[in-house]
Amino acid sequence: MKKKFMVINGPNLNLLGSREPEIYGAENLKDIEFYTSEKLSEFSLGKVEVDWFQSNIEGEIVEKIQQLIGSDYQSLIINPAAYSHTSIAILDALKMLNIPVVEVHLSNTHLREEYRQQKLTAKSSTIIMEGLGKRAYLFGILSQLIK
Ligand code: DQA
Repeated sequence: MKKKFMVINGPNLNLLGSREPEIYGAENLKDIEFYTSEKLSEFSLGKVEVDWFQSNIEGEIVEKIQQLIGSDYQSLIINPAAYSHTSIAILDALKMLNIPVVEVHLSNTHLREEYRQQKLTAKSSTIIMEGLGKRAYLFGILSQLIK
């Protein structure tokens, strides 16, 4: 049976590659999508479908999360980006899901500014992964596939 994953990326992640590359790396989101699917196909994990969504708009992210309620997605991998630190709306939407939520951050925010230390959205995540760079999404998906 096909296993379906939704990946949601929040604000400014559409500019990965050119945005602070010393922190977030030189690859853009399309490169990371390609990297993730290439690596996934190297493992014999059966049929895995990964759908990617990015928005700079909080309400659009909330709506995408709401669409997962009662859907056939097996897990959500989410990098809420700056909304992780501020968004009760995204936290509340995540609370309505009954599938595992893996929150990922490319950088290790623990080593960064004070205002990145609060993670509202992580309060309803099953797993949190930080500092993996472009491998974040791959490892997030693998965390759900490998028992
Ligand atoms: C980020 C970390 C956030 O603090 C920041 O606002 C981002 C990206 C990360 O992937 O490291 O936009 O989520």
